Amino acid sequence: MAETLRVENLHVHYETAARTVKALNGVSFVQQPEEVFCLVGESGCGKSTLALTIMGLLPATAKVLAGRIMFDGVDLLQASPSHMRRLRGRDISLVFQDAQAALDPVQPVGRQLEEVIMAHGGASPRAANGMAQEILKEMGLPDPKRIMGQYPFNLSGGMCQRVMLAIALVLRPRLLIADEPTSGLDVTMQAEILLRLKRLCRDLHSAILLITHDMGVVAHMANQVGVMYAGSLVETAPAVPLFKQPRHPYTWALLQSLPRLDNVNKRLEPLRGSPPDLLDLPEQCPFLPRCAKALNRCRLERRPLLQPVSPDHWVACHNPLHPSE
Ligand SMILES: Nc1ncnc2c1ncn2[C@@H]1O[C@H](COP(=O)(O)OP(=O)(O)O)[C@@H](O)[C@H]1O
Ligand SMILES: [Mg+2]
Repeated sequence: MAETLRVENLHVHYETAARTVKALNGVSFVQQPEEVFCLVGESGCGKSTLALTIMGLLPATAKVLAGRIMFDGVDLLQASPSHMRRLRGRDISLVFQDAQAALDPVQPVGRQLEEVIMAHGGASPRAANGMAQEILKEMGLPDPKRIMGQYPFNLSGGMCQRVMLAIALVLRPRLLIADEPTSGLDVTMQAEILLRLKRLCRDLHSAILLITHDMGVVAHMANQVGVMYAGSLVETAPAVPLFKQPRHPYTWALLQSLPRLDNVNKRLEPLRGSPPDLLDLPEQCPFLPRCAKALNRCRLERRPLLQPVSPDHWVACHNPLHPSE
């Protein structure tokens, strides 16, 4: 089957009179159909900018300097506004962390869900009502009929997030972009919602681009992982090799800071230092000041690009970890 999404060499800056934020600096990856691709990285590394760029929802201050985003044979960066409107919600949908804000406050949530179904799907009101109840149940809302009559302010954050995910998935999009969809929720509820999300997407044959700062979430969800740092991907690999044999010192450091069930006695090493200022990005590897494995070469040469260390494992590092390290 053809790939779902191909992002190539994407560069995006936010430009205001006084300053330029280099938010994305050459991001490339491919997502396969039905795959859960987790994009992970610290706050401010450009994850949401990437989501907004794919959706065609960047603010006016953002400039796409270069790149292609291929979806269904079309470069979304060249697509007309009406083409993008048709894709959004039907073929690609987006869910943010703040579901309560994304829902219309003055309409019962059931009607919001039914309207999406009828607008894109051409279903009758009766059929839309049935589909709405069904998908709310799939997302773990026990009494969907009652929930549908509620306004967003009557519902908890977790319930709103389930409603948003239901809205995003009810038309069986080929791609769901979920940007920190459970970050505001407690850990148990996060796990439950993510499990349902994964199961539902598998049943609907939807791929998920799951954006998170949380390696624990990645461990539960990902088939494929992309690790972002300062607006670039520094490592991409299937989940198992990435967790077993991380090759980029940043990925390694992220994993060291993560509690693990198989090694509860291990001392956790917090990640030291902070990411670079995107207003003033160095020419060299952006991880250099925090890197324990830096060589002279890393100080002298330009930022390394992603290179394969095995066919499906790519690393942007002059001195990657050895598989046995
Ligand atoms: N509208 C904006 N105008 C200017 N800078 C922005 C804007 N949105 C995000 N940024 C900056 O771009 C960088 C990437 O942000 P973002 O994509 O939100 O990162 P993440 O989602 O990984 O936290 C950050 O330095 C952030 O401050
Ligand atoms: Mg974000």
